[in-house]
Amino acid sequence: MAPATGATLQWLAQLIGARAVAEVGTGAGVSGLWLLRGMVDDGVLTTVDEETENTRAARQTFSEAGVPTQRVRLITGRPLDVLSRLADAAYDLVFFDGNPQESSRYLEEALRLLRPGGLAVFDDALAGGRISDPAQRDPATIAVRTLVNDTRDDERIRPLLLPVGEGLLVTQKLDV
Ligand SMILES: C[S@@+](CC[C@H](N)C(=O)[O-])C[C@H]1O[C@@H](n2cnc3c(N)ncnc32)[C@H](O)[C@@H]1O
Repeated sequence: MAPATGATLQWLAQLIGARAVAEVGTGAGVSGLWLLRGMVDDGVLTTVDEETENTRAARQTFSEAGVPTQRVRLITGRPLDVLSRLADAAYDLVFFDGNPQESSRYLEEALRLLRPGGLAVFDDALAGGRISDPAQRDPATIAVRTLVNDTRDDERIRPLLLPVGEGLLVTQKLDV
């Protein structure tokens, strides 16, 4: 993750005083650390990854950074299955850095999980320029392009596409 992307995540979490954040795509815990830095001191990050190896690596990252264990819930499992078990309207921010082909389903889950005013943030929203190139028609690119286009007309959210790193799509859940 580009430092500018991480810094933007930290800034967004700080801006809204995030206390409860959910993340899909734990990876090595890099984005998780940025989010934790922006959240309130006792805020809790719930982060999901399909790969046990990633969960293990992230646990080490958080431990080495001195993050108290009670501030992170590390869950190994299929993201959509795990998200479906999380509480409604209980999250301030949901960050997606997982399977791009599941992007539109992630947004639907996010709209259930977020409180009004909360943020759903998607990394890789420009995918190295592939999103704006109609010749690029691989399934992952099509899925992210569909997400970006759909958010423009979705009255439930206020979208902003930031050219930071690989592109960050920030959508705010409106109180409708
Ligand atoms: C880019 S990495 C996440 C990096 C992490 N956010 C960080 O900053 O350290 C993407 C994660 O999503 C998960 N994933 C699941 N399905 C995927 C897919 N089809 N393509 C890419 N990532 C996928 C991977 O296990 C991986 O940990």
